Amino acid sequence: MTIRINVNGAEHVVDAEPDTPLLYVLRGDLRLNGAKYGCGLGQCGACTVQLDGKAIFSCVTPLAAVGTRKVRTIEGLGSVDRMNALQSAFAAEQAAQCGYCSAGMIMRAQALLDAIPQPDEAQIRRHMQTNLCRCGTHMRILRAVLRAAGLPVDGHSA
Ligand code: FES
Ligand code: FES
Repeated sequence: MTIRINVNGAEHVVDAEPDTPLLYVLRGDLRLNGAKYGCGLGQCGACTVQLDGKAIFSCVTPLAAVGTRKVRTIEGLGSVDRMNALQSAFAAEQAAQCGYCSAGMIMRAQALLDAIPQPDEAQIRRHMQTNLCRCGTHMRILRAVLRAAGLPVDGHSA
């Protein structure tokens, strides 16, 4: 069946079953490959995108649950040439190794910064705990979020 979906400010009509995971539609139909398939079970965060500004796991979010809400993916934040502040902070702090978790990390962190522009460290840690990095760059990611929030990064070694 055909279903309408709003992604990064643009309306799309996709031909998919209502129970199709949003992640599959983003990657397979819309060719937005930033969000990654990790566990497929809502346990790693690699697939994180935003739904009306809230970070969600797109691997366990059926298309039918999206409705008229607005989907935002890493492609809607910025590009290699025009990174937003958080993407720039990730680059500056070299907060990636293989990069598989990065889009999900950034989308989850951006949701926090949009709601609370200057969160404290405890808020950042709590908010980010659902997303895993198998390369162990969590401290660099913490530094990047602190940097993007304009908070001191000293004392947080990579
Ligand atoms: S792929 Fe969605 S949480 Fe792991
Ligand atoms: S940088 Fe490799 S999983 Fe995070």
